[in-house]
Amino acid sequence: MDFDLKTNEKGNLVIGGADTTKLAEDYGTPLYVVDESKIRENYQRLYKAFIKHYSDFKIFYACKANTNLAVMRILEQEGSSIDAVSPGEIYTALLAGFEPSRILFTGNNVTDDELRFAVASGVKINVDSVSQLQRLSKITKPSNLDISFRVNPKVGAGHHEHCITGGDLSKFGIMEEEAVDVYRIAKDLGFNPIGIHAHIGSGILDPEPFIMAVKTLMDVAGRVSNEVGIKFQFIDFGGGLGIPYLPEESKLDIELFAKEITNLYKDKLKEYNLGKPYMYIEPGRYIVGDASILLTRVNTIKQSYRKFAGVDAGFNTLLRPSMYGSYHHIVCANKPFAQPVQNIDIAGNVCESGDLFARDRPMPDIQEGDLLAILNAGAYAFSMSSQYNSRPKTMEVLVNQGNSDIIRERETFADVLSKQNVPIRLLK
Ligand code: LLP
Repeated sequence: MDFDLKTNEKGNLVIGGADTTKLAEDYGTPLYVVDESKIRENYQRLYKAFIKHYSDFKIFYACKANTNLAVMRILEQEGSSIDAVSPGEIYTALLAGFEPSRILFTGNNVTDDELRFAVASGVKINVDSVSQLQRLSKITKPSNLDISFRVNPKVGAGHHEHCITGGDLSKFGIMEEEAVDVYRIAKDLGFNPIGIHAHIGSGILDPEPFIMAVKTLMDVAGRVSNEVGIKFQFIDFGGGLGIPYLPEESKLDIELFAKEITNLYKDKLKEYNLGKPYMYIEPGRYIVGDASILLTRVNTIKQSYRKFAGVDAGFNTLLRPSMYGSYHHIVCANKPFAQPVQNIDIAGNVCESGDLFARDRPMPDIQEGDLLAILNAGAYAFSMSSQYNSRPKTMEVLVNQGNSDIIRERETFADVLSKQNVPIRLLK
């Protein structure tokens, strides 16, 4: 996999037509840089790959990957719908201009208040448990709601065990063997379920488990439809489509993937006489993952028992390497193609030993003051950032055709403290 790096005449890394070294000078670091046209390209490539095989197809962007409003606006313009997993994500999607009918709420372990919020917002609700279903029936008139169920198809996949959401260890969804009974309970309570859903995990580069899950979900849908008399309006296969993070990984062959999934889908629709329901998928990472980089400046070169390059971002800014041991490719922004001359640890500024962006990474010569670009920082990057160590959250800019706009201001210390109160007795 080559990471499709572009440089200008100065040899500096360019993203969205903008010189990364200039962006870092103008806005400071750490800095997330989001490439608008890359998001649009990713969306369109995926959409076109499926729509040509099956016309009733929709993408529900899993906005947990990146909830920046500008990113959401871009995807609204492209025609996407939204997979939301919390009231906050529903709120964000509505604010970004998505009609409630274009939002599917897939909560897990949701409270009654959260259910009330979803109902009041008018979004479709993807139910995760019988408990949730029963509580929902007390909150609103069941016949007024568009619901589906999340089914655990017993197969799971993902880049890390935390990211596998199918199989017998997973907390998500209803068991596939109980699906018929659960849909029956829903009908008895007065619901008219219109959909069925599965999401088996995240970061899948091998299509096999995804295809197995599609098969299982279609068989479940067939049973439910025939035994309970449900006419499905949509069947949702969730997200999980991976992107290459490691240089030796290859991209998912999306054309082949879409062809296989849609062929299987159409065969199973026929087999069970399911009509022509919409096919939904819910990618997050595939759409935004490679559309952003994180720029961070080296402030310390230190030879301890090992050699470290210390930078001004940390796991508060990008958690994935510490949380999952994830590999993110890192290049020097002023010489992205320079050959490695050393193995070095690239360490963040958080006060924990696990705060490493890379261990023993082959890198070119790095000096204090150099700018590093951490690639593939568009998904689960800013959205998982925190204020740990009382560090204000960082800035995001959107680049397009060489122009840049701030899409999130850098937080201040006051922002970090803004919700705290000290009881008066402690002020004496
Ligand atoms: N649909 C549902 C119901 C999900 O739970 C998720 C992700 C997706 C769709 C989108 O998955 P994607 O296409 O982005 O793989 N923080 C982890 C990833 C966690 C994903 C959680 N659910 C990471 O940084 O890799």
